[in-house]
Amino acid sequence: MSQNIPLFSMLSCFLLLWCFTAAQNFGRAQLVYEWKWIDFDWPSAEDERNARSNGSFVPERNLFSGIKEYKGTIYISIPRRKWTAGQPVSLARVVTIDGLAKLRPYPNWTAQQQGDCAALQFVQSMEIDPNTGFMYVIDTGRVGLSLNLCPAKLVVYDLKIDTQIDLYEFPTHVVSNTSNFLNDIVLDYVNGQVRYAYITDTNDASIVVYDFHSRSSWKLKDPTMGMESNGTVITISGIQYNFPIALNGIAMSPDFKYVYYCSLGGYNLYQIPTETLRNPGTSNSNGIRLLGKKVSQTDGMIHGSKFLYYGAVGLNAVYFWNATKDMAEMNVGIGVVTLNTQTELIRNDSKLQWPSTFAFDDQGWLWIACNRLQVFWNADNPPDDGEAYMRIWKVYVNETGYLYQAHKIEQGKSDGSTLTSSTTDVDCFVFLSVMFLCCLKGYY
Ligand SMILES: *[C@@H]1O[C@H](CO)[C@@H](O)[C@H](O)[C@H]1NC(C)=O
Ligand SMILES: *[C@@H]1O[C@H](CO)[C@@H](O)[C@H](O)[C@H]1NC(C)=O
Ligand SMILES: *[C@@H]1O[C@H](CO)[C@@H](O)[C@H](O)[C@H]1NC(C)=O
Ligand SMILES: *[C@@H]1O[C@H](CO)[C@@H](O)[C@H](O)[C@H]1NC(C)=O
Ligand SMILES: *[C@@H]1O[C@H](CO)[C@@H](O)[C@H](O)[C@H]1NC(C)=O
Ligand SMILES: *[C@@H]1O[C@H](CO)[C@@H](O)[C@H](O)[C@H]1NC(C)=O
Ligand SMILES: *[C@@H]1O[C@H](CO)[C@@H](O)[C@H](O)[C@H]1NC(C)=O
Repeated sequence: MSQNIPLFSMLSCFLLLWCFTAAQNFGRAQLVYEWKWIDFDWPSAEDERNARSNGSFVPERNLFSGIKEYKGTIYISIPRRKWTAGQPVSLARVVTIDGLAKLRPYPNWTAQQQGDCAALQFVQSMEIDPNTGFMYVIDTGRVGLSLNLCPAKLVVYDLKIDTQIDLYEFPTHVVSNTSNFLNDIVLDYVNGQVRYAYITDTNDASIVVYDFHSRSSWKLKDPTMGMESNGTVITISGIQYNFPIALNGIAMSPDFKYVYYCSLGGYNLYQIPTETLRNPGTSNSNGIRLLGKKVSQTDGMIHGSKFLYYGAVGLNAVYFWNATKDMAEMNVGIGVVTLNTQTELIRNDSKLQWPSTFAFDDQGWLWIACNRLQVFWNADNPPDDGEAYMRIWKVYVNETGYLYQAHKIEQGKSDGSTLTSSTTDVDCFVFLSVMFLCCLKGYY
């Protein structure tokens, strides 16, 4: 036992040093979870055995895509996009059971029932408002992009009490019940409250708007939401993959004045004023602006309180746009600036293939879900090549998401725009103190 003490004290001192330096480190990355195939938290071992043998669970058909975080819990979507059976769950949260990370259906198993229109059918993504603890989930209502089971809908859960609090079915003239692919969602605050949701419909190449006040929806379609003739081939680690996929990634500026969007099959990044989207009568595309070409094609995007982060799928990397720098250099405002400075945040050719979507926590970390979609999508049966398909990373960026304290910003009570480093500082202070004691104990 006494032999362990020097080791422990050395480790403590090392951790002390690490904690001290790491807290300062923009871009520090950590691979948090890794799965080859998803593992669910089944009610019983017998249920799992039955589901595997009767075909309602085929592990290699389950690939996660959406990620969001709330109070230390990670939420994940598992799109039922490619197959019509074998995917028992479309929305889940990560739980740790006997040291293993598993997915527990959210809010429960019943809410995942394929064919039950009160339940979730095919969830590609969701958004969480950290100010209220509400999660906004988009559901295409379709399975395998071929079984047209239900109307598309937006479902809201209160994560604080794990209860569904709202459900809105889209009329078919806004979101088709036979061809939509609702892909990603951002929220728009007005007067301290969530007023609109903006949702990309990939198959319709349009942005769907939902107004929570009037409980009505409309859509805006524009040629910039389609794919680009030269943009649909994505080269990843030397192999070419064809992704003729339109509008996909969407992000909201922290002042709620602009929405950013891009197609997967393309390089262009566009900006549209929320003013245009908020107007139900609008059929024109007022203020849509090409910002420039990204370094690569992008699936998901997210805006923090400072930067716009986006996947660079062909580079196995995540980049960010420091608009402040470009605005200063061009001496123009955000409504005029173009995309010039693109900075690599993280790249890892083997462990960061296909950065899919992003989340912020309230501690300064950006979370990244990546899933090697290029392999999964292009194989009839995704091969077991020994490599994990799904990984979750977090990268320290010292900022929070665009929604952080939005209720205060819009009410003008606080600027709320930057992360106070207090939480990190307090954590580190406690940690340092404990480690200091451990060091002392080790030495004497
Ligand atoms: C985080 O950002 C704030 C301002 O936004 C800055 O004062 C602070 O030094 C930064 N902290 C780290 C660890 O980079
Ligand atoms: C397959 O087994 C699961 C788990 O017991 C069960 O919930 C489901 O209803 C079964 N499906 C069919 C088609 O029998
Ligand atoms: C799709 O919408 C049409 C009307 O727009 C309706 O007749 C049909 O029943 C709907 N199908 C489903 C599966 O909801
Ligand atoms: C599962 O969640 C749904 C939707 O929130 C709810 O209506 C239902 O009562 C829940 N079922 C159980 C068994 O908790
Ligand atoms: C597509 O690529 C070709 C060859 O590189 C180029 O000549 C052409 O201008 C490109 N078209 C567009 C729309 O970018
Ligand atoms: C962003 O740009 C500003 C203004 O040029 C600069 O001060 C800051 O260091 C940049 N931040 C990063 C992380 O590149
Ligand atoms: C990629 O990530 C893994 C896991 O964190 C790490 O071991 C490896 O060094 C990284 N590779 C590069 C080139 O950074």
